[in-house]
Amino acid sequence: MITGNQNTDYARGLEGVVAAETRIGFVDGINGRLVYRGYNIEELAESSTFEEVSYLLLYGTLPTKAEFEKFTARLNADNRIDDHLFKALQECTKASHPMSALRTGVSYLGSMDKDSNKYDLPSQEAMGLRLMGKFPSLVAAINRSLQGKPMVRSNEPNYTVRFLEESFGKKPTEFETKVFRTALILHADHGMNASTFASMVTISTLSDMYSAITSAIASLKGPLHGGANEQALANLERIGSPKNADNIISEMLEKKEKIMGFGHRVYKVYDPRAKILKEYAKKLAEETGHSELFETAEEVERVMINKLGTKGIFPNVDFYSGIVYKSLGFDPRLFTPIFALSRISGWFARSFEYLHDNRLFRPRSMYKGEVGPLKYVPLQDRK
Ligand code: CMC
Repeated sequence: MITGNQNTDYARGLEGVVAAETRIGFVDGINGRLVYRGYNIEELAESSTFEEVSYLLLYGTLPTKAEFEKFTARLNADNRIDDHLFKALQECTKASHPMSALRTGVSYLGSMDKDSNKYDLPSQEAMGLRLMGKFPSLVAAINRSLQGKPMVRSNEPNYTVRFLEESFGKKPTEFETKVFRTALILHADHGMNASTFASMVTISTLSDMYSAITSAIASLKGPLHGGANEQALANLERIGSPKNADNIISEMLEKKEKIMGFGHRVYKVYDPRAKILKEYAKKLAEETGHSELFETAEEVERVMINKLGTKGIFPNVDFYSGIVYKSLGFDPRLFTPIFALSRISGWFARSFEYLHDNRLFRPRSMYKGEVGPLKYVPLQDRK
């Protein structure tokens, strides 16, 4: 006999379920607002730095000058990755996607941290800061591995500049720094998305911060989440020109294919992050000879809004970020690791916040299977 479970409170994919309280960030999906600790994302993207925003997410206020200096000193106290890890990253990137290398890299760093079995709050905080401090070098080293080039070690303390310098072996321009810093700020936190939830589920068992971030990276990898940026760009490149957009998008929709970079579980209006990135994508594309790519994107946006806007489907953050990263010179395979370079601050802040009033995540599933009791038949007697 097949029977259902008595519990009827079931939300597929936990849609609409409130599973935690937070003071960190608010995604207003109806009005298209993203708020970090009371600040609109547009305000922070224009005026702040990634380190300041990370401090804000983690501790609740923008830092004073002294707090900022102490915070960045902690981030940079031990910000290098070692040669063994670089060798492993080189092997990983030869074999598989860089997100797998990143997941392995964070797991390696956790295994090498002698404090990673301490679960008190100051130890969790210290682990998060150590890991975050190493992140620019870790992701840059993955980029160097992809390019088949040696690791670059910079003494630059700024998160954004160090990452760009170690990725390309030269100082970024002011404009490149501003664009990239903005992208980092825009991606830093975004409610209870899958990867943030994954990190919180892991930390709720009183596991360590490295394990929580490893879980988050594993879940960011998928194309329905962080992996969408890489695929959105691949789709635009395949479309190739604005004149092809209508036909190709229509065909894809007829085949019930999802168009990557569109739609959102929470936003039913234009994603505010996409608005900001679109401006930068336009400027960068013009400067780097990728204008046709940008124009194709604009046409895809027009076609999609025309067809699906009434359903609340608009460009999300991943639609224009790919053009920005490509124009800055990044290999598309690095796009999702770049997302992680930013989102680590949200994962860390939310896991740390959750630990202050921890309750083990332990939902139930609705059993739809056989309830029996069936009689066990030995292997040799089974037909
Ligand atoms: N292209 C075409 N149709 C879509 C799309 C899309 N990108 N997104 C949603 N739809 C349609 C979907 O086919 C469904 O149609 P119908 O009602 O006819 O069955 C309807 O809209 C609802 O779709 P859903 O998948 O149930 O909606 P959701 O709230 O679960 O979707 C989503 C959220 C992000 C999974 C989905 O929009 C999607 O798969 N988008 C493409 C992947 C993507 O860009 N992901 C990045 C999300 S933003 C970055 C982040 O926060 O991680």
